[in-house]
Amino acid sequence: MTHTPTRSLTDAADLSHAPVDITAVLDHLVREANAAAATSIGFPAAVDLDQTEVMARLGNRLWNNIGDPADPGGGAHTRALERAVVAWVADILAMPTDDRWGYVTTGGTEGNLSALHAAHRRHPTARIYYSTAAHYSIPKSVEILGARGVVISARPDGEMDYAHLAAQLRKRRRRPAIVVATAGTTLTEAVDDSARIRAALDENGVQGHLHIDAALSGIPLALDGRLRFDDAGGIASIAVSGHKFLGTPTPCGVVLIRDSMRGHGSHVAYTDTADTTITGSRCGLAAALLWHAIATHGREGHRWRASEARTLAAYAVNQLTAAGWPAWRHPHAFTVVLPTPPEPVRKNWPLATDGGTSHIICMPGVTRGQIDAFVADIAAAAPPAPIPQPRLSPEPRTSAAGG
Ligand SMILES: Cc1ncc(COP(=O)(O)O)c(C=O)c1O
Repeated sequence: MTHTPTRSLTDAADLSHAPVDITAVLDHLVREANAAAATSIGFPAAVDLDQTEVMARLGNRLWNNIGDPADPGGGAHTRALERAVVAWVADILAMPTDDRWGYVTTGGTEGNLSALHAAHRRHPTARIYYSTAAHYSIPKSVEILGARGVVISARPDGEMDYAHLAAQLRKRRRRPAIVVATAGTTLTEAVDDSARIRAALDENGVQGHLHIDAALSGIPLALDGRLRFDDAGGIASIAVSGHKFLGTPTPCGVVLIRDSMRGHGSHVAYTDTADTTITGSRCGLAAALLWHAIATHGREGHRWRASEARTLAAYAVNQLTAAGWPAWRHPHAFTVVLPTPPEPVRKNWPLATDGGTSHIICMPGVTRGQIDAFVADIAAAAPPAPIPQPRLSPEPRTSAAGG
């Protein structure tokens, strides 16, 4: 078989003009992705689940869940599986059965936008409070909604500064507030304490909507009972990513909003569906992949996956520290935070880096061999000056994360 030279694969003009060796192009993409996989420990996608059966059976046609998951719909769709996925995620979070709604999104970003859209419709004069450690999808959503944001400081370990939040709420106590807490911040996997956020709202007599951006940690913390969406917690919405902990081979997520706290959309005549979601056409294959991940492993299987990943993260901290590279992690976290390694190491290992700090994420499917190889490369580099260890918060408790 002839291989199209690598150079031409990065050149859109070459790819769009015949003759192109299509098989070579596709094979090249797979080879590059396979080669990158060995050092891919910087970003949070699980790689341990086998989705071949779904891709083989469903991967060759359009599955469109356009409209609301509750719509009966016609044609090829997977809404029954989508409803099962939403119910499973809501159940592990102990979300009340009589006040729940949700759908399968394109990812954590859409989930955040959908939840903040619902909150902003109910509280159009509210300010949206989020910390400096929040994901960039939060200020982006604030901008899309034409809302006003209030940025709250975060501690060095990534958790929100509650005293700063309380002070900012006090300044605007006559306005409602939409507060975004993060369960698993992007860089350190810190979990904001929703009980302390609720307390800050109550102390200042501020009405509002508490949204949890739980893109990474929502499912693992829920499986441990450490993130709860029950009546006691005062949470109004939660968004999780699907391709992170559940490792689907396409980006997706789930958003859950209390049914009593959302708009019910208008009816679209030509599709005969309710317009309740951010996008119109929606990926039914993603819902099937999520359902398959859930159905094949169940709660216990996923709990075990989370526990193995945390064990590997603890191992990575020990190995890095022993090699003279002072790493740390939150006790519940897959994420290991370390001083940014020198350039030659970063060239081999694409890490998420923010100035002097980087992280690796021991997602399910990452192996001890990968950690050992990474530590060996680091050990070959000069040890850095020690960085101060941030004061770690205690393990998120049921009440801390959601109660
Ligand atoms: C805390 C947090 N929220 C939201 C997102 C966005 O998720 P997605 O990439 O699924 O849109 C991420 C992604 O890394 C994240 O870390």
